[in-house]
Amino acid sequence: MLKPPYTRYDRIYTYHVDGSTLPAPYDPDLIGTWEEDDKTILIFHRPKDELVRELCRKHSCRLFYQADLDYADWEMGREVVPFTVGPLTIAPVWDPGEADIRIDPSVVFGNGFHPSTRLCLQSLVNYRTGLPQNFTGLDLGCGTGLLSIAAVRLGGSSVMAVDHNSLACAVAQQNGAYNNAVDNIHVKCMDIRQELPATGVDVIMANLHHELLAELFREPAFWQAGLYIISGFMPGGEEQLLASLPAAPPPFLDRRRLDKWCVWVLGHV
Ligand SMILES: C[S@@+](CC[C@H](N)C(=O)[O-])C[C@H]1O[C@@H](n2cnc3c(N)ncnc32)[C@H](O)[C@@H]1O
Repeated sequence: MLKPPYTRYDRIYTYHVDGSTLPAPYDPDLIGTWEEDDKTILIFHRPKDELVRELCRKHSCRLFYQADLDYADWEMGREVVPFTVGPLTIAPVWDPGEADIRIDPSVVFGNGFHPSTRLCLQSLVNYRTGLPQNFTGLDLGCGTGLLSIAAVRLGGSSVMAVDHNSLACAVAQQNGAYNNAVDNIHVKCMDIRQELPATGVDVIMANLHHELLAELFREPAFWQAGLYIISGFMPGGEEQLLASLPAAPPPFLDRRRLDKWCVWVLGHV
C-alpha cells in the first residue's frame, strides 16, 4: 500500500519466493507482501534483486519467478480513475477531485473496475432502501475493502470485512481510515474455508470464486443474513452454484450479468 514518499503507483516489481516463512523486509520501496500456498510474494515500487537474493540466502528460500510491469497492466490493463455508482463517486487516493469514497487499490483485488465488484456495488445501491437503518454487514473476501466502505456510506453502521490475504487486510484497514470509517469497519484476517464469521447480519456481500461460494452455500450457518449479494462467478459456475443452494434458499430478488460476470441478490428485504 502507499506509504510516503509514494503517492501513487507507477511500475510494480514482483518477486515470488518459495516458502511462506519469509519475514517482510523493511524497505522504503516495499508495497507489501503476502503468503499463498507455501510461497511468499513481495511487491516493490523499484527493482530489488539484490535485497531479495540476500533474503533468500538468509532464509534458505528460492526465487522462482519475478516480473515488472506497469501499474495499469497489473490493474487489468486499465488506469484507475474516478467512477460513479448511484450516489457514490469513488476515486483513487491520488485523484485531486471530490469523491465520496477514496481508495488505495494497492496491489490487491478491489479497485472497483472489475465487473463483479461493479455488480456488487450496483446491487448494494439498488437494495439499500430495503435494509434497516444503521444496517450491519459482512464482506466476505474484502480485498481493498471497497464494498465495506460503500456499505457504510450507504447507511451501514458496522461491517465486518474479512480476507485471508494479509496485505488485503492491511489495505482494507488503511482504506477504512482514509474514509473515516475505522469505527464502522472491522477487518479480520481469516480463511473463511476454515471458519465462518458470524453471519447474522443484515447484508452479506460475497464476491468470491464459485467453488468457494458453493462450499459456503452448503454450510447451514451461512444462511442467517437478511440479504445476500453474491458475485465472482460466470455462467459456467452458475450451474454448480444453483446445485449447491439449500432446499429452501432465500428468494431471488435479482440475477444479472455484466461482461459475462454474474451477480445474484437473494433475501427477504
Ligand atoms: C474477487 S476478490 C473480491 C474483492 C472485493 N470484495 C471486491 O468485490 O472487489 C476475492 C477476495 O477474496 C479473498 N479470498 C479468497 N479466498 C478466501 C478465503 N478462503 N478466505 C478469506 N478470503 C478469501 C481474496 O484474497 C480476495 O481478496
